[in-house]
Amino acid sequence: MYVLGLEGTAHTIGASVVTGEGEVLSNISETYKEKEGIHPREAANHHSSKVVKIIKKSILDAGIGKKDIDVIAFSQGPGLGPCLRTTATAARSLSLSLDLPLVGVNHCIAHLEIGRLRTKAENPILLYVSGGNTQVIAFSKGRYRVFGETLDIGLGNMLDKFGREKGMKFPAGPLIEKKAKQGEKLIDLPYSVKGMDVEFSGIMTAALNKDDALEDLCHSIQETTFAMLIEVTERALAHVRKDEVLLGGGVVQNKRLQSMIRTMTKERDAEWYVPEPEFCVDNAAMIAWTGYLMHDAGISISVEESNIKQNFRTDEVEVTWR
Ligand code: ATP
Ligand code: FE2
Repeated sequence: MYVLGLEGTAHTIGASVVTGEGEVLSNISETYKEKEGIHPREAANHHSSKVVKIIKKSILDAGIGKKDIDVIAFSQGPGLGPCLRTTATAARSLSLSLDLPLVGVNHCIAHLEIGRLRTKAENPILLYVSGGNTQVIAFSKGRYRVFGETLDIGLGNMLDKFGREKGMKFPAGPLIEKKAKQGEKLIDLPYSVKGMDVEFSGIMTAALNKDDALEDLCHSIQETTFAMLIEVTERALAHVRKDEVLLGGGVVQNKRLQSMIRTMTKERDAEWYVPEPEFCVDNAAMIAWTGYLMHDAGISISVEESNIKQNFRTDEVEVTWR
């Protein structure tokens, strides 16, 4: 069984072929690097100019022919409308021209499923921190439920915006991590945890209004926001009585965040897992693999009902494959 998956919710367009045994045969992607702000339509133009080449390369690299493909999966949401539409159009055309079943995948759930495939995590809490998303997700009573999330913007977007204001290149996350290592002073920034949810905009505004050294600001932003994520993750762990934390999303490549997770899980006698970087960031293998799991459980959609879902909620999906 070969599944071709397409990812295209935000900056990254990707195509991947995986097998029903969970082998990732190819995983190709290209990322639209924005100059200023987020331009969904420009990102979508980027995706439409690359998608055919990427699909062809993913099939070639997988060492199969297009006639070997059994299922087409695509990222149905959540994400930026124009990007989602471009990706869905490509998936629909493939499904129609090759006469193959189509599966619409929730992007957040895909981050969790690829983590379960690539690591030894079996029933983890997912701390998913990317550009557009920040969520704590766990499986409970037949669905992936969101135990906590950002009330405004994803942490990655906040770091990128802060970086842009400070003249850093996009994506700023890795550059902020570097600067933070030289920072020593902990500047007072608003610690914004509301119940199980978090907020980042106020922290960014407060940091931009300070005259402190950039190194100290980067250090303080990391310490404050990561501590908030650890607090919410720890409480979710206790609440659902799980003992595994899985990391997903581009921001979790941050070594300081990983070390804080390591400390917290150690204290709780829990384990933590992070997939290889190519499976942390947006990638098509996670869509192909989740598409496989869903199709195997009898889930597919017709082209007519394959409309994109910009605000696709994680807990909307009935998880019949677990
Ligand atoms: P989404 O997954 O929400 O659709 P996206 O495409 O922006 O959005 P990812 O590809 O998962 O998300 O991750 C990109 C984000 O990760 C960027 O915001 C980037 O700044 C951030 N990032 C990458 N590496 C690091 C790091 N070492 N420390 C902090 N942030 C990082
Ligand atoms: Fe993502």
